[in-house]
Amino acid sequence: MCGIVGYIGSKNCIPVILEGLKRLEYRGYDSAGIGFIQNGSCNVIKNKGKVSLLEKKIYESSYSPTIGLGHTRWATHGEPNEINAHPHYNTDRSLVLIHNGIIENYQTLKISLQKQGYKFVSQTDTEVLAHLIDSFLKKGINLFKSVRLALAEVDGTYGLAILYDKEPEKLVVARKGSPLVIGIGEGENYVASDVSALIAHTSRVVYIEDGEVAEVYSDRFVAKTILDEDIVKEVHQVTMTLEEIDRGGYETFMLKEIMEQPESVLNSMRGRLIYEDGTAKLGGIDHLLDRISKTKRFIITACGTSWHAGLVGEYMFEQFLRIPTEVEYASEFRYRNPIIQPDDTILFISQSGETADSLAALREAKRKGALVLGICNVVGSSIARESEAGVYIHAGPEIGVASTKAFTSQLVVLALITLVLARKRDMSLVDGRSIVNEFLKIPEKIKRILELNRDIEKVAENFKDSKNFLYLGRGYNFPVALEGALKLKEISYIHAEGYPAAEMKHGPIALVDENMPVVFIAPKDSTYEKIISNVEEIKARKGKIIAIASEQDEHIGNLADYVIKIPDTIRMLMPILTVIPLQLLAYHIAMKKGLNVDQPRNLAKSVTVE
Ligand code: AGP
Ligand code: GLU
Repeated sequence: MCGIVGYIGSKNCIPVILEGLKRLEYRGYDSAGIGFIQNGSCNVIKNKGKVSLLEKKIYESSYSPTIGLGHTRWATHGEPNEINAHPHYNTDRSLVLIHNGIIENYQTLKISLQKQGYKFVSQTDTEVLAHLIDSFLKKGINLFKSVRLALAEVDGTYGLAILYDKEPEKLVVARKGSPLVIGIGEGENYVASDVSALIAHTSRVVYIEDGEVAEVYSDRFVAKTILDEDIVKEVHQVTMTLEEIDRGGYETFMLKEIMEQPESVLNSMRGRLIYEDGTAKLGGIDHLLDRISKTKRFIITACGTSWHAGLVGEYMFEQFLRIPTEVEYASEFRYRNPIIQPDDTILFISQSGETADSLAALREAKRKGALVLGICNVVGSSIARESEAGVYIHAGPEIGVASTKAFTSQLVVLALITLVLARKRDMSLVDGRSIVNEFLKIPEKIKRILELNRDIEKVAENFKDSKNFLYLGRGYNFPVALEGALKLKEISYIHAEGYPAAEMKHGPIALVDENMPVVFIAPKDSTYEKIISNVEEIKARKGKIIAIASEQDEHIGNLADYVIKIPDTIRMLMPILTVIPLQLLAYHIAMKKGLNVDQPRNLAKSVTVE
């Protein structure tokens, strides 16, 4: 979950590591720390809170080491204080270690190490690794091998980076379940949990896979499996640029990413739509189209916002393909021994491509023989690499913890998959072409919605002190209601619930009084009349109504307290438009409360622990 950065070369590594940690801070910000070797001994500087506080502490010291590593933590075991912050030392402080993940058998290992006389200072699971590796070093075994022997005893997940002052010319890294890459430089090398921490320095990277351990020197690296087998690693070229991961003049990443949507959505469709044939071309799954179009059942698996996109996908697939589709939380899918048939197609949707629950579910689905497809944003991420095939959403780096542009791009890709398969099955050329036309108008329509930013900000002003919110929608817009509620919860800490509008009268309506804001997603579609009845029901109970409505709707203004009017499109694509005012509403409410929307409390961008 956390961020890892390391450097070995001839420069002072401290600025390199701090800058990398700042780029990774979105992954966790409970504490930050840096460990390095200078004058033959290991040092650690760490503190609770953000990287900026660590930076201050470090610059008050006068170190300039050329080998070091840094960590931002998202606590799983032990409260977020300075003692539990990484790096962790072994007892004689000859070794420092940082860890991303969870050591599941840490209690057993700890008891056995305590019996051998090891003293623990933190409450983390991580500290057992430092002592466990130390127990092998003490036998005169070198670091690389000690790490492999120690990891053979460990259950759980890890991305690890380790320094040892008796072998000061190398960093050792290892991976199981948590991402890790080596960045290749000239006479210097880097390690990180995420390529965004490296791209200021190099575009050449080597992805460490599960079960691999590597020793990284300034001019080379050696990789082996935990079982001591030699392996040859390929160097990949990454195309991400620094500009893509900067704030570009916006006050926050989240606002930048909301505002980028005309472009990010366009990038998701760029080069893929074919008007003449009324279809699309998706290079990543082209070779499997026959098999996919004959699938007996789709299962869409994901977490959080990506799961909401999956729910919209279910409506798309069932409307246009008439193939039964189930959507499941990855965490549930993984543990309930799901029934998977050989002719099922399972789609994994993940912005980061590193979400532990989704990755584990993917491996389970593969084991059971289903066709596994990935819909990811991060190129080269674990889910993208481990899927049999897939489609990238090409939304560009998403840094804000609350997902916005990835969601709309996921919807675009799901709609493109629907179009391609529907055209292969029974959709006519004319219908295919009219859908292509609707796709092409989406970026312009998003622009028009974004022009309402100031109006939405004014609406937000009225709700910053609200304690609860309801979001209601029907059909395609029910998942949008869930997503709107999640956005508000995540960044404003206001309790919010999304519900199918008609379901409201079966319970949640009891919550409605003059203090309850209710957001209706009510575009003019086939369920419009029904949703208007639901609006009436809320109005009768004095709830405050905010309606997301169609531009030509003249009626809803008589019922709602606030109306945000947006352009229309076909039902399948409507969620791409209706979600945008909800992103802005949540954003402005949180900003008016003075909150940090890019790094909301308790959250991390990429949840690489279960
Ligand atoms: C969304 O705003 C969240 N922060 C979160 O729910 C996220 O969508 C979820 O953790 C899944 O992440 P992924 O798409 O990277 O797999
Ligand atoms: N489990 C470790 C801890 O709680 C690592 C958490 C992380 O991945 O940041 O310290």
